[in-house]
Amino acid sequence: MLISGRGSNLKALIDACTDGRIDGRIITVVSNRPGAPGLEHARAAGIEQTVVDHRRFPDRAAFDRELAATLESSAPDLVILAGFMRVLTPEFVARFAGRMVNIHPSLLPALRGLDTHARALAAGMSTHGASVHFVTSELDGGPVIMQAQVPVCPGDTGETLAARVQLAEHRLYPAAVALICSGRVQCAGGTVLYDGQPLERPLLLDDLPEAATQCIGSP
Ligand code: GAR
Repeated sequence: MLISGRGSNLKALIDACTDGRIDGRIITVVSNRPGAPGLEHARAAGIEQTVVDHRRFPDRAAFDRELAATLESSAPDLVILAGFMRVLTPEFVARFAGRMVNIHPSLLPALRGLDTHARALAAGMSTHGASVHFVTSELDGGPVIMQAQVPVCPGDTGETLAARVQLAEHRLYPAAVALICSGRVQCAGGTVLYDGQPLERPLLLDDLPEAATQCIGSP
C-alpha cells in the first residue's frame, strides 16, 4: 500500500483484512513522507513499513524507480493507493497496469484532481462521493470499479462534507478491494470485468453508515 498522510483508509483496509471481509493480507506499507501518521496504523498492526522520501530524489522518474523496486521486493498481487499524493510516471503505472487501484474523493469522472469537496460545494452539487478505480496514466481517469454517494447537506463546509465522504470511503475501499481479492473484479484491456463481464457503469455501494447518507440536523 502507498500512503502520504493520515492513513484512515489504510486503517479501514487493515480492519477488513483482520475481520475477514477481505481475503488478503497487506504485506507492506510505503510512505513518501517520513512521519506520515498512517505509518502508525501499520506499525500497530505489525505490518512492514518503508519510507521512500521523494525529496531525496533528483526527479520524479528516479523516485518512481525506487518506489517500484521497493514494492516489487514484496511481490504484491495488488498495489493500493490510499491518500498517496504524488503523481506517478507513465513508466511506474505501466509496471503495475491492471493491478493498481486508487480511491478518489469524488464521483468520477466529475471532479478529477485536488480540492474536490470545495469544488463540489462551489458547483452547487447536491450529491458527492468517492470512487475506487484502476490506475492508468491519465490522472484520476482509470476505469471505475465502485462508487459511494453522499448528500451535500445544507450548511456544509469543505470539512463537514469531507468527513461524510471519508465515512463512506471507509466502507467503499474494503468492499472494492474484497471484490478484487476474491477474483470477481479484474481489469482487462482498460475495462473492469465483474464476474467475467464488462462493467457498464460503476458498482454502487449501498451499505453505508447513516452518518454518511443522512443530513443530520437538517429538516
Ligand atoms: C482520502 O479522502 C482519499 O480519497 C484522498 O485522500 C484522502 C486520504 O485520507 N485521495 C486523494 O485525494 C487522491 N487524489 P487517508 O490518508 O485518511 O486515507
